[in-house]
Amino acid sequence: MCVTTKKVVLFSVLSLFINAAVCNMSEAAGKPEVKVPEATAPQGSGQVEPIAAAEKKVEVTDASFRCLHKMTKVGNMYVDNLLGDLEGTLAVAKSSAGGVYPAGSVVQLLPTEVMIKREKGANDETNDWEFFVLEVSPEGSKIKQRGFNPPVKNMLGSCISCHKQVAPQADMVCAAGQGCPPIVFPGGIDNAKLISALQKTDKRCPSPEPPTPEEMAELIKLKKMLEAQAAAAAAAAGQP
Ligand code: HEC
Repeated sequence: MCVTTKKVVLFSVLSLFINAAVCNMSEAAGKPEVKVPEATAPQGSGQVEPIAAAEKKVEVTDASFRCLHKMTKVGNMYVDNLLGDLEGTLAVAKSSAGGVYPAGSVVQLLPTEVMIKREKGANDETNDWEFFVLEVSPEGSKIKQRGFNPPVKNMLGSCISCHKQVAPQADMVCAAGQGCPPIVFPGGIDNAKLISALQKTDKRCPSPEPPTPEEMAELIKLKKMLEAQAAAAAAAAGQP
């Protein structure tokens, strides 16, 4: 079934992060702030002519990403804008009527999964959103997957499969709660606590608030479940 596949994919994305998050949490919390370079404007040919924001190309590299706690929190999401138009991004993110996010918008729920609004016309099917899966460490961010649709890898295909179900006025942003299939973790895991734990264990910088013991318990529950799944898969692969 479609939803089951999505869950599995989502877990595999999370598993990398969670393993490290649980192990390194106390370590990361005590670390000095890691400076992730600010996203730079697109590198042009040195021309001095000003380019209207709407025409700027949104260049995305490892250095474009920042720790969640350096971004601006709106509800459950963290937002940013690579072209300096944070105001434009915030206006849509905070609007109950929704709207179209401006080019350069960065939105995140988890440290390792990102949507970035590319320049107009970049991809009609995704409303110009590009999906990213990152690996994060105290040293910064590394892009593991990126693409629109069809995706480079299955993992990204699953991003669009949920996010495209959002009502048009919410511009594929699931947090708006308008038609996106929910993320459901099996095994009685409390979604809200787990998401909060993942946010607070972004390894790129310390969180203003540490995860509560209850939130950590959900993270550990998920980690154990993923380990059990991996062990079962390995055992099955070893069968003649
Ligand atoms: C099972 C459906 C599903 C899949 C698959 C999925 N998402 Fe989401 N995503 C959601 C839901 C639901 C939310 C909102 C959760 C909340 O606010 O608590 C969300 C939130 C987000 C957000 C925060 C902005 C927003 O839309 O609310 C980003 C960014 C995001 N997902 C990126 C991704 C990426 C990248 C992938 C693929 C690697 C992905 N998602 C796969 C359902 C999904």
